[in-house]
Amino acid sequence: MLQTITFAQAISKKRDGLKLSKQEINFLISGYTNGTIPDYQMSSLLMAIYTKGMSKQETAWLTEAMLYSGKTLKHKSNKVVDKHSTGGIGDKTSFIIAPIAAAAGVDVPMIAGRGLGHTGGTIDKLDAIKGMSTKVPPKKFIKQLEDIGIVLAGQSEIIAPADKKVYALRDVTGTIESIPLITASIMSKKLAEGINGIVFDVKTGSGAFMSKKSDAKALAKSLKDTGLAFGKDVYTMITDMSQPLGDKVGHSLELIESVEVLKGKGPKDLIEISIELAGAMIHLGGAAKNLNEGKRLAKKVIKNGTALKKFVQVIKAQGGDTSFVKNYKKLPTAKFTYTIKSPKDGYITKIEGKKTGLACIVIGGGRNVKEDKIDLGAGFDFHLKVGAKVKKGSPLMTIHHNCRDQKIIKSLELNFLENIYKFSTKKPKYQPLMIETKSYFSKN
Ligand code: URA
Repeated sequence: MLQTITFAQAISKKRDGLKLSKQEINFLISGYTNGTIPDYQMSSLLMAIYTKGMSKQETAWLTEAMLYSGKTLKHKSNKVVDKHSTGGIGDKTSFIIAPIAAAAGVDVPMIAGRGLGHTGGTIDKLDAIKGMSTKVPPKKFIKQLEDIGIVLAGQSEIIAPADKKVYALRDVTGTIESIPLITASIMSKKLAEGINGIVFDVKTGSGAFMSKKSDAKALAKSLKDTGLAFGKDVYTMITDMSQPLGDKVGHSLELIESVEVLKGKGPKDLIEISIELAGAMIHLGGAAKNLNEGKRLAKKVIKNGTALKKFVQVIKAQGGDTSFVKNYKKLPTAKFTYTIKSPKDGYITKIEGKKTGLACIVIGGGRNVKEDKIDLGAGFDFHLKVGAKVKKGSPLMTIHHNCRDQKIIKSLELNFLENIYKFSTKKPKYQPLMIETKSYFSKN
């Protein structure tokens, strides 16, 4: 490649709000991926992109450069579909909807990420399963998809390596909440999977990267535009993330809650969103004529147990110990629990999402720096959610932790009661979980 610009010049160009060319973007991404460009320069470029943005064309070039930083997969099947969430608190739908869609006859080659900022990551959560490998080499990936219709893997040095490196750097450099960076990150790994269609769960509210609805809509549009530009069928769903999704937050706890849903139990909000997302995947994959039929099929495969069987099958195929599905104690657990009680009578009007995610990092359920090891047993169990009526002294939530220092837990309790929970004597207005659903078909 003819190099016409230095890395420092490219940073300055973006800092001054100018557009980067395709060649420049390719040079930047390949240089960072192969290690010739150091973290400090890439951090500076990411911050320039964060503040100055990128055009639709630059975003497509960035996606393409990150996509072709590694191998791309091709499958015989033409019903290859995935879902990607833009990130939230307690967002564990991947473990539920990937097996549902696969049980309904759609192929799901899911490549997911680790925790990002205050949000948890699918791949970190899978680390709680003993023996489970999320490093799936391309040949095995393709064969497993052919054999059982589902793979749950992480970005790697082979597939979407640029995203793996850039994602980890954004996590610790204040450069997450950027529409072009989120678009290229998600789309590069999803396109590398060899999908025909994709469902985007774009989160909005206090626990989302796009807390304002208008920003979530702009991100949904950017993801849709990029998906269509690459010839993929797309659903965009804008969903509420103003409080944690489901009742549990934390790695083992979220796996347990996902298995509960696959067993036909679990909390209402998590069931609702899982059926919508899985229904859309089943529709995109051609196993249903429309979204409603997809949703009916999603409910059917939960009821007849085939979705749970699919989950067990994928864990086994990737070397994991499936005994936790019957006995949750087989997952890493925390040594201690502490229950926070309501300080007053009234209604819960808020459980602030982002602050809940940050509180989870305090007990080890997330990272402060790239090298941090996650406490897989740590987390929160919410007994009551927004809209619930409480009495003074009723249990609100339980902290699962391994902190010997009681001061940490006491200050966490204060944080929850003063900054995260809000109460009122009036019942709050109902907030719908599903805010907007749109579908786009590339051949139309
Ligand atoms: N999910 C991703 O894969 N990347 C982002 O940047 C945000 C959410």
